[in-house]
Amino acid sequence: MPNSIVLGTGSYAPRRILSNADLEKIVKTNNEWIVSRTGIKERRIAADDEATSDLAAAAAREALQFAGVEPEDVDMIVVCTVTGDTPTPSCAAFVQARLGAKNAFAFDVGAACAGSLYGLSIADQFIRSGQVKRALVVGAETLSRFVDWSNRETCVLFGDAAGAILLGATEEEGRGVLAAKLRTDGSMTGILGIYGGGSRRPPSSEMLEEKADKIKMRGREVYKVAIRLLPEIVAETLQAAGLTAADITHVIAHQANQRIIESALQNLGVPLEKCWINIDRYGNTSSASMPITLDEANRAGKLKPGDVIAMMAIGAGMTWGGAVLRW
Ligand SMILES: CC(C)(COP(=O)(O)OP(=O)(O)OC[C@H]1O[C@@H](n2cnc3c(N)ncnc32)[C@H](O)[C@@H]1OP(=O)(O)O)[C@@H](O)C(=O)NCCC(=O)NCCS
Repeated sequence: MPNSIVLGTGSYAPRRILSNADLEKIVKTNNEWIVSRTGIKERRIAADDEATSDLAAAAAREALQFAGVEPEDVDMIVVCTVTGDTPTPSCAAFVQARLGAKNAFAFDVGAACAGSLYGLSIADQFIRSGQVKRALVVGAETLSRFVDWSNRETCVLFGDAAGAILLGATEEEGRGVLAAKLRTDGSMTGILGIYGGGSRRPPSSEMLEEKADKIKMRGREVYKVAIRLLPEIVAETLQAAGLTAADITHVIAHQANQRIIESALQNLGVPLEKCWINIDRYGNTSSASMPITLDEANRAGKLKPGDVIAMMAIGAGMTWGGAVLRW
């Protein structure tokens, strides 16, 4: 049975930077509060003419170039997003056309900030089953379009970006995705989400006036759930891979809040130095977060053959998961 290994990674961040100082002019907040509570210093905002598929295609192209793989040689594209260009067609269909990846079937996965872990695990299963040889997993979001810019509790947190991971089949044993665990607890749908604009509450002027199309979050509850579930799922995933926390060389974490990452790692007994942090530059980019982080660590030459990489993410739903890879 084949395994899936990472052939290439890529990322794209819109040019426009929104700093904490910029936010001080929009809502009653301050740099010290944002940095000390979240670790975020700035985030990127998509240009008016940029949609999620534009960001996704740019990141995907980088991953293909890194791997030296042509778009026609991709069999499957999974775009992980909750902010696609349109309700339908899928964001993945736009990305497939943009790339010219004419031999790939393409679809979206919506698992909020855990999206890329879901996408990675789905792509891994297709590769293991032998149905697919090369799969592009792209996490892309333009959350700035769904943020209430008058709500200081949420608008300081999120940013726009895209990251891509190209997976390929290998017969080499013990390399690539060793284990992945996905979890959902739908009893927590009420603590984080965008509750208007879908079939429950279709778009209307009243819905827009109430800003029901914007992110709503009970931050403290999300925080508590995250610091409990993340270390648990990483420990379970390590166990499934036959490894322990001591085997971890690098942690690639969803960047929602630096304190969440620190708490999860402390719980696992993994030093913070093993985790690539970029929340200071991007904020929470949801599905894009982990692929960008992996790409940065990869391009910085930090990932060496044989390294064990533990991934963890949690998002609205709540959805969460872990993955363990051997580079
Ligand atoms: C949102 C979050 C940073 C808030 O931090 P916190 O330490 O829990 O802060 P609290 O919500 O307890 O608020 C503390 C105070 O800061 C205030 N505050 C909230 N946002 C603020 C801001 N941007 N600037 C200044 N003050 C702010 C609150 O109004 C509150 O004031 P009060 O004490 O006068 O009522 C934190 O709860 C968090 O990160 N939660 C998880 C969010 C997340 O990761 N979501 C995505 C998951 S994928």
